[in-house]
Amino acid sequence: MLAVAAGDSSMPSDMFACLAGGETWRGRVACRKKDGATYETFAIISPIKNRAGEIINYVSVERDVTRELEAERYMRQSQKMEAIGTLAGGIAHDFNNILAVILGYAELACKNTAPDSTIKSWLDQVFKAAERARALVKQILAFSRRSEVERRPVQVHLVVKEALKLLRATIPTTIDIRERIDTSAGLVIADPTELHQVLMNLCTNAAHAMEERGGVLTVSLGPAAVTREESGLHPELTPGSYVRLSVGDTGAGIAPDIIDKIFDPFFTTKALGKGTGMGLSVVHGIVKGSGGAITVNSTPGSGAIFDVLLPRVVEEIAEQQETLTPLPTGTEHILIVDDEELVINISREMLVTLGYSVTGFTDSVDALAYFTRHPEAFDLIITDQTMPRLTGFDFAGKASAVRPDIPVILCTGFSEALNDKKIADSPVKALVMKPMNMRELAGTIRSILDGGGQKTAADKKGG
Ligand SMILES: Nc1ncnc2c1ncn2[C@@H]1O[C@H](COP(=O)(O)OP(=O)(O)OP(=O)(O)O)[C@@H](O)[C@H]1O
Ligand SMILES: [Mg+2]
Repeated sequence: MLAVAAGDSSMPSDMFACLAGGETWRGRVACRKKDGATYETFAIISPIKNRAGEIINYVSVERDVTRELEAERYMRQSQKMEAIGTLAGGIAHDFNNILAVILGYAELACKNTAPDSTIKSWLDQVFKAAERARALVKQILAFSRRSEVERRPVQVHLVVKEALKLLRATIPTTIDIRERIDTSAGLVIADPTELHQVLMNLCTNAAHAMEERGGVLTVSLGPAAVTREESGLHPELTPGSYVRLSVGDTGAGIAPDIIDKIFDPFFTTKALGKGTGMGLSVVHGIVKGSGGAITVNSTPGSGAIFDVLLPRVVEEIAEQQETLTPLPTGTEHILIVDDEELVINISREMLVTLGYSVTGFTDSVDALAYFTRHPEAFDLIITDQTMPRLTGFDFAGKASAVRPDIPVILCTGFSEALNDKKIADSPVKALVMKPMNMRELAGTIRSILDGGGQKTAADKKGG
């Protein structure tokens, strides 16, 4: 008789063969207590033999390793997250270059299209989506280097409206999207890109749940008050004013035995390759990070509703509206260095549109050779940081050895690789995050060329 542990245990198949052969067996055993709770042990089981060498009993020594295994799993998971971060960071970096091209050509096309044409309105959509992607890339880069997100007062209804527009295009028409948006819901302190992500993840899940039979997706937004009694339901919330965002569906619903797990990272009921199980854990992280709470209610078979509560900012802080003043222009000569030819082309077109003349190089060593021969021909250098042979930063240093007053704008997707002290002591006058946006770049160029301490174009032409 082999008695291993109280309750059930599932024996590894190799164990009996090993013991029957008179050997000692070592390994992990999954066990179940009488109350149904599971635990895992590491067991060493040895046969006890009589004088004749027959097995008459077994002795088993076990150690409960449930916690150790949990810690190990946790470690593996955080290593996995770390790896995802590194991978995502790399992809985001390349994606930035592609986006630079999309954004740049969309801007150029906008400039060359009649303001009231349909094409202009389509281009505006391209532009908006690309801007959103740019923000997402920034977000991925932030995640991969775990920096802070940019929280500021946000009108939630504006983010919701924009996300719904995007969703309508991606969700099948068998799903009816209903909006109940109270535009006076108010402001919350959050990162708009993160809020957008919350909505996209919740609505995508809802759409998946209704994939087979269609249904109704309801997105509601409005003010809410959390009273002292209610705060018992949400121990993490203090009583006060909130904004409530609800996403409801009429899909399959969530079974009671998994509802406690759906916010766990990597928990998914979807087929391999269809879902990562990260959607809700990201949502949960964002909501908590913004000082809010998320709850879910579901009746299996008739749908689910996710409620997000975010603290409302009482004082009305008007959202900054981008003032559409004309772009600042100029006539100076700019040297552009970037190993991506497409980036050079788009930058050239942008800058030529603004009135500048431009010379471009895809190789920083060639660029340096040219600059050394014609140092006075240029008023400004714009260079990428990450280039083979000679980085943008080193190129700037060598160029300034040839002509100490040459200002440099350094473009980078990974600004963390450069430390502030190094930048302060260098000819680099500004760091620009890629992909560049025309307004940002036009402004930076002018402020450098006209800026105090810099030799201005007028000085140079005069001298
Ligand atoms: N609206 C919903 N209706 C029914 N089940 C849901 C709903 N939302 C989430 N779930 C369940 O929760 C699980 C986890 O959701 P989560 O968004 O974290 O991951 P996923 O959707 O499976 O994958 P991913 O979002 O990474 O593509 C889902 O697999 C599904 O079983
Ligand atoms: Mg999901």
